Amino acid sequence: MAEENRDKQENIIKMCNEIAKTYDIANRVLSMGIDKLWRRKACTMAFDFYDKKQIDTIVDVACGTGDLMIDWEHTGASKGISVTNIIGIDPSVGMMEVGKTKIPHRTFVEAGAESMPLEDETADFISISYGIRNVVKREEGLKEFARVLKKGGLCVILEFTKNDKDDFPAKLTKFYMNNLMPHIGGLVSKNKDAYTYLPESIEAFITTKQMCDELKAVGLEPVFVKGYSLDMSTTFIARKI
Ligand SMILES: C[S@@+](CC[C@H](N)C(=O)[O-])C[C@H]1O[C@@H](n2cnc3c(N)ncnc32)[C@H](O)[C@@H]1O
Repeated sequence: MAEENRDKQENIIKMCNEIAKTYDIANRVLSMGIDKLWRRKACTMAFDFYDKKQIDTIVDVACGTGDLMIDWEHTGASKGISVTNIIGIDPSVGMMEVGKTKIPHRTFVEAGAESMPLEDETADFISISYGIRNVVKREEGLKEFARVLKKGGLCVILEFTKNDKDDFPAKLTKFYMNNLMPHIGGLVSKNKDAYTYLPESIEAFITTKQMCDELKAVGLEPVFVKGYSLDMSTTFIARKI
C-alpha cells in the first residue's frame, strides 16, 4: 500500500512536470479566466479575517506556477499590507521553473505538503490552491499545515471538491468537467491524460463537509467556507486554534 501510494504520488508529480509550460494558458481557457477571481477573492477574505497590517510569512503549498503567490503580494499591496516572506513549496520542479520567471524575488522550495522543511509555528498563512487533491497522504499534509502555522494563523484552501448533489447546476458542471475539459485541456496542453485525470480526481476526492471535518481533526477550525461558480470551486479558510 505504501509503495502504491508512492507510485501514485510520483505519477502525479511527473504529470505536473509534463504540463508545466502550458498550465497557465490551459487554466485561463478552461475556466474562462474565472480561476484568477477565485484566487484573488480568497486572498482578500483571508486578509480581512487576519486583520494585521504587517505579515511575516505566507507559505503557498503546491504553488505550481506561482499564481497564488502573486495574488498574495498584489492583494496585500492593494490593502496596504506588507508581507515579508512569501514562500512557494512544490515537488514539481517544472512548475516552479515557470513560477520563478513570474515572481523571481520570492523563494521556491522543492518539497511535498506531507513533509515541509519549515520550523513549527512560523507561518501566518498557509495556502494551497487546487493542490490538496494531489496530496496522496492528505492527513499528513494537513497535520503539517497545523504544525507550521502560528496559533491564530490561517489555512486557506481552494479546491474542486466532490459534489454529491444531483441538481441541475451539479449535472451541468459535471458534464463540463467530464466531457469538455479533457478535450479542451488536451488540445491546449497536448496531454489529454492530465485533463482526464482532473475530473476523475475530483470525483474521487472528498466533499466540502468531509474537508471541514478533516480540518477540524487536525486543529484547524473552519471560519469561512464558500462554493463559487455553481460550487465548482470551494474556498476554505480555517484558523489554527
Ligand atoms: C493543479 S496544480 C495547482 C498549482 C497552483 N497552486 C494553482 O493554483 O494554479 C497542483 C500542484 O500540486 C502539486 N503537488 C502534487 N503533489 C503534491 C504534494 N504531495 N505536495 C504539494 N504539492 C503537490 C503539483 O506539483 C502541482 O504544482
